[in-house]
Formats: sequence, structure tokens, C-alpha cells
Amino acid sequence: MSKLFTPIDLRGVRLRNRIVIPPMHQYAADDGHVSDWTMMNAGRFAAGGPGLFFVESTKVERRGAGTVGDLGLWDDKFVPGMTRLASFIRRCGAVPGIQLGHSGRKAKRFRPWEGGHALTGPEAEDPTWRIVGPSAIAQGNGYETPEAPDTEGVRQMVANWVAAAVRARDAGFDVLEIHGAHGYLVNQFLSDVANQRTDEYGGSFENRTRFLCEIVEGVRGIWPDDKPLFVRLSVEDHANWTVEDSIALSKRLKELGVDVVDCSSGGIGRTQGGPPLEVGYQVPYASALKREAGIMTMAVGLIFDPEHAEEILQTGDADLIAVGRGVQNEPNWPFHAAVALGEEAPFDLLPDQQKYWLANRAKRGWR
Ligand SMILES: Cc1cc2nc3c(=O)[nH]c(=O)nc-3n(C[C@H](O)[C@H](O)[C@H](O)COP(=O)(O)O)c2cc1C
Repeated sequence: MSKLFTPIDLRGVRLRNRIVIPPMHQYAADDGHVSDWTMMNAGRFAAGGPGLFFVESTKVERRGAGTVGDLGLWDDKFVPGMTRLASFIRRCGAVPGIQLGHSGRKAKRFRPWEGGHALTGPEAEDPTWRIVGPSAIAQGNGYETPEAPDTEGVRQMVANWVAAAVRARDAGFDVLEIHGAHGYLVNQFLSDVANQRTDEYGGSFENRTRFLCEIVEGVRGIWPDDKPLFVRLSVEDHANWTVEDSIALSKRLKELGVDVVDCSSGGIGRTQGGPPLEVGYQVPYASALKREAGIMTMAVGLIFDPEHAEEILQTGDADLIAVGRGVQNEPNWPFHAAVALGEEAPFDLLPDQQKYWLANRAKRGWR
């Protein structure tokens, strides 16, 4: 049996294999609520055979919504839709996970295919949708300067993350990921470029990591002990945040009860290079954190081939493999990977509705 298809236990949650569908924004929510598209998109990928499916970055407060189509968990009214979504993902065969996020100073934009620029029109006038960040420093040209909350306001933001996590728990998700990457709010607090606060949330490494650590402490306090907690980091944000910073932070996160660091990069806005965008370019981040911080890691980014995914696990560079655009291209990627790696019962990954027919077809040599 390949390592990719060896089940893994994360606390009390068993993943049937190590393929994870990473969070991928659809920007298709109905005023923050789960929509038909949200359901279809989740089912399409969860039924293709992965161990774990992550619902896209779901916002912990209104101000943090990136577009008019972002999913929300900033109010109890979103819980029934999310409950249906979590249960549907489970019925499709995958463990339901959700990423919680807050876009901070990158909030309130048009969707990428609409141009991605600052939102205009009636929705932009919503007085509750004000842009916040750690400091009044804009992401760059074409971005609004955020309001910087006072210390009490930051504490309230921490509380908003915890309240959203309670709702994710109540909706029945088994895995929670805190979005700390890609230049969004948590990443902004970590960064000395975006965060120039002079209170306890800015300045030293300890102060800049305080926001995330307090979120993790609060979330771990309400998230069941038998369910795993992930944090996604921009291991290098290509401004001043380095791999060494991520190693030091991951050691702390592990102490606070984080199980897996999902290793991504970039997004803070001031680019100073980074590795070339080639196959597996972020795997060295997963490897560094796993080895140096002693924490489980997920590798993500331009991983397309099952053999490559298997090799990453075999060399001990990561514990989980996320495949994003690979499954957008081919939703049954995990099933095909099982066939390619010679797994004994690849059809068992599929729901009965497809398994029966495809297994019969294969018996007749029609595959
Ligand atoms: C359509 C799309 C939406 C995405 N939305 C999110 C998101 O909600 N949260 C997040 O952390 N990353 C998001 N990402 C990044 C992916 O999770 C993943 O890290 C990235 O696509 C690299 O993996 P890949 O090369 O396998 O696609 C998104 C990527 C795509 C293509």
C-alpha cells in the first residue's frame, strides 16, 4: 500500500487517505449563506475520493469578507446551511473541514474574474463592512487604508474568531483551519510591514504573534479535544517574515494544541522574490517545519502527479498532500491516483452511485 493511501489518525479523526482538498474560494455564497453552488462544489470534490475536504475561507466577521460572495460564520443564522454542508461532505465520503478567515486590509474587493479591484456600488456603502487591519497601512496601490482598532478592538476580533469556531463546531465540522497566510488579517498581524502597532499586538516577534496565539488558545478551548486544528501560514511572506520565523511560531503553535501547519507562502504585498513557481515549490517549507518544529505539515502548491505526492510522503517532507487546481481540473483525482499507484480497491473511494458502474466497467476491461 502506498503512503498516500495509508489512513492517518489526527487526534480522534481518521482520514481514509492523505489527500486533502485545500480551501478554494468560490465567491458564490448568497449573502454569506451556503448556496447551491457551495453544495455542488463540495460534493464534486468530496465524492472524488479525498481523505479531507476543506470548505473555503469562511469569514469570522462581516468586515473580513473579501467579496460579496464570501461565506460567513459571523452570525448564528449561518449555522443551518453549514450543518447541511458538513453533513453532505461526510455523505460524499470525505471528512468535512472548514477554514476560518478574515481578509483584513484586503477585504471588500470584486471577485478575481471581475477584476479584483476595490468594491464599488451599493454593497460597498454597507456601513458594517469597514476595512480593518493591524495598522492604518494599505496593502498597496488601489487598496483602501484600513482602520486600526485599539487594543480592546483587537481583543474583540480574537473573540470573533472563537465565536465563529463555536459555530463551525456546532455545524459538525471535524477539522478546523485558521487562515494565517496569504497576506490576510492574521498574516498582517505577523508582518512588521503591515503591523506597526505600539501596543502588545505589535513590535517584537512575541507581540506580532500574539494575535494568532490568542486565537489558537481561544479556539482550542472550545474545539473538541478529539478533533484536529490546522493553521495555514505563509511560511515566507516574501516581505520580512522568514522560514525561521515560521519555525519559531510553529513550535509555539504546537504547544498551544495545533496539530498541522499547512505550508503556503506569499500575499503580504511587497514582493522580494521567493522560489520560482515550479512543481512542488512550497514542499521545502513543509519539510523545514516538520523537521525543525517537530509538527505535522501539509504540503500544497503545484502538486499534480500521484507519484510526486507519494514521494513527498516517502521522503518525510510532509504528512498530508493538498491538491487544489489538480482537482479542479479532474475532481476524481484521488480515485485516479489510487489506480495509478496500484491500490487494491480504488473503487471503494467512490460513492455507491458511481462505484458500482465503474467497477463493473473495469471488470469488462473497458477502463
Ligand atoms: C480558486 C481558488 C481559490 C482559493 N481560495 C483559497 C482560500 O479560500 N483559502 C486559502 O487559504 N487558499 C485558497 N486558495 C489557495 C489554495 O488553497 C492552494 O493553496 C493553491 O491553489 C495552491 O495549490 P494548487 O497548486 O494545488 O492549486 C485558492 C486557490 C484557488 C485556485
